Amino acid sequence: MFSQQTMTTLALLLLLASCVRTYADLLDIRKYGVTPNGDITMALQKAWRDACVSMTPSKIVVPSGKYKLRQIYFMGPCKAPIEVQVNGVLKAPKNPFHLNGQYQWVRFEYIDFLNLSGNGTFHGRGKMAWKQNDCQTNKNCLKLSMNLGFGFVNNSVIQDITSKDSKYFHVNVFGCKNITFTNFKVSAPAYSPNTDGIHIGKSIKVNIINSKIGTGDDCISLGDGSKEVTILNVTCGPGHGISVGSLGKYENEESVEDLIVKNCTLKNTNNGLRIKTWPGTPITSLASDLHFEDIIMINVSNPIIIDQEYCPWNQCSKQSPSKVKISKVTFKNIKGTSATQEGVSLICSSGIPCEIVVLSDIDLRFNGTTLMTAKCVNVKPLIGMKAPTCAY
Ligand SMILES: *[C@@H]1O[C@H](CO)[C@@H](O)[C@H](O)[C@H]1NC(C)=O
Ligand SMILES: *[C@@H]1O[C@H](CO)[C@@H](O)[C@H](O)[C@H]1NC(C)=O
Ligand SMILES: *[C@@H]1O[C@H](CO)[C@@H](O)[C@H](O)[C@H]1NC(C)=O
Ligand SMILES: *[C@@H]1O[C@H](CO)[C@@H](O)[C@H](O)[C@H]1NC(C)=O
Ligand SMILES: *[C@@H]1O[C@H](CO)[C@@H](O)[C@H](O)[C@H]1NC(C)=O
Ligand SMILES: *[C@@H]1O[C@H](CO)[C@@H](O)[C@H](O)[C@H]1NC(C)=O
Ligand SMILES: *[C@@H]1O[C@H](CO)[C@@H](O)[C@H](O)[C@H]1NC(C)=O
Ligand SMILES: *[C@@H]1O[C@H](CO)[C@@H](O)[C@H](O)[C@H]1NC(C)=O
Repeated sequence: MFSQQTMTTLALLLLLASCVRTYADLLDIRKYGVTPNGDITMALQKAWRDACVSMTPSKIVVPSGKYKLRQIYFMGPCKAPIEVQVNGVLKAPKNPFHLNGQYQWVRFEYIDFLNLSGNGTFHGRGKMAWKQNDCQTNKNCLKLSMNLGFGFVNNSVIQDITSKDSKYFHVNVFGCKNITFTNFKVSAPAYSPNTDGIHIGKSIKVNIINSKIGTGDDCISLGDGSKEVTILNVTCGPGHGISVGSLGKYENEESVEDLIVKNCTLKNTNNGLRIKTWPGTPITSLASDLHFEDIIMINVSNPIIIDQEYCPWNQCSKQSPSKVKISKVTFKNIKGTSATQEGVSLICSSGIPCEIVVLSDIDLRFNGTTLMTAKCVNVKPLIGMKAPTCAY
């Protein structure tokens, strides 16, 4: 059946495959010449190259200890699943200029079946960068790096690790499909600017579960094209809460659909659950099937908000109403304390009203008394059950 030549080639391939396997199965970073407190960048890059060409699953291990890490790409596509277990603390350069203006300090791209785990920490050492952040007032502000980027990563898990003191957003998820964050931790102080926990864009099936996120900005935010996102059993705070948007600022935005936020706690955040869209832009898009359920608020300012007139620092024209259509939104079983009197504020677009918004079992207290009123504009219909009555 097979020619002698084919047989020889096959045998050679098998031999090669087995060599690669024994070589690449477990890649302890120490074998690549790393010393504690040393710079791990080259070693990690080499280990990744070996893992990526391996025909069988492989595992890269960074043992406990502290290491310096410069900017790094973990680039696929690779031949088999890869586990990266980080038990040490990886430290970014303090000076933002030493990251060469890269969008991300650590970036994973075009990978299928990545498992990033371990009790280690990606430490962005952002203090110096935060002082240089003037993005609120300067449109051409210095580009600061995020700690972690996942671009076009499918069927993957990020578990146990910590992202600390990022210079900018902690995690960016873009173009991914079926990616899960579990027992994931984000920590940065309340005053750190733009240190959003996890930002999702143009991705499908993103799960964030059993995680704890404290930052100076949004805990989790969903940009355009986020679909089938599940946020379960997550604690946020400090920070700006869980946010859909802002949407509608740019042309050709994709819709946001199918969000479930369930069994989460927000503590000392200055927003709770928020949907925000920009007015004054020419395009239409959709945000629908957004469900928030079983949420505990502790001392949260503005616990429930839809804001279709979102326009910070007057960056837009409020002449024309927002063209993002918001529909099928439920806020169910939301309890706890509000730090402001206005617990529920639904300000929808005068051009395209919100469609089917349900408020049920809302029990928010301000200074010991139950909040009895909500502000609602352009919501048709608004269905309320055991919820504050709407003042129009
Ligand atoms: C991830 O999935 C998308 C959509 O199914 C596909 O186009 C892409 O090639 C996949 N990426 C990898 C690295 O497998
Ligand atoms: C990822 O790796 C961790 C640590 O080895 C393991 O416990 C977990 O089961 C793995 N997850 C997946 C989905 O393979
Ligand atoms: C992290 O995990 C490694 C490997 O399982 C273990 O040796 C180490 O003690 C752990 N460190 C901490 C701080 O839990
Ligand atoms: C999603 O990714 C996980 C982790 O790799 C995998 O176990 C699971 O089969 C994937 N689900 C689908 C629908 O592909
Ligand atoms: C929710 O998270 C806590 C820790 O934050 C964990 O102990 C608990 O088991 C989680 N619940 C579920 C259903 O996973
Ligand atoms: C809800 O989340 C809390 C804390 O994060 C956890 O302790 C609890 O087990 C979760 N409950 C359910 C039903 O998942
Ligand atoms: C409640 O939140 C306010 C405003 O965010 C903050 O100033 C105050 O310290 C918080 N109170 C407690 C008890 O944490
Ligand atoms: C809270 O309630 C107390 C007693 O009812 C009142 O004296 C106080 O002014 C209230 N504080 C605020 C911020 O409304």
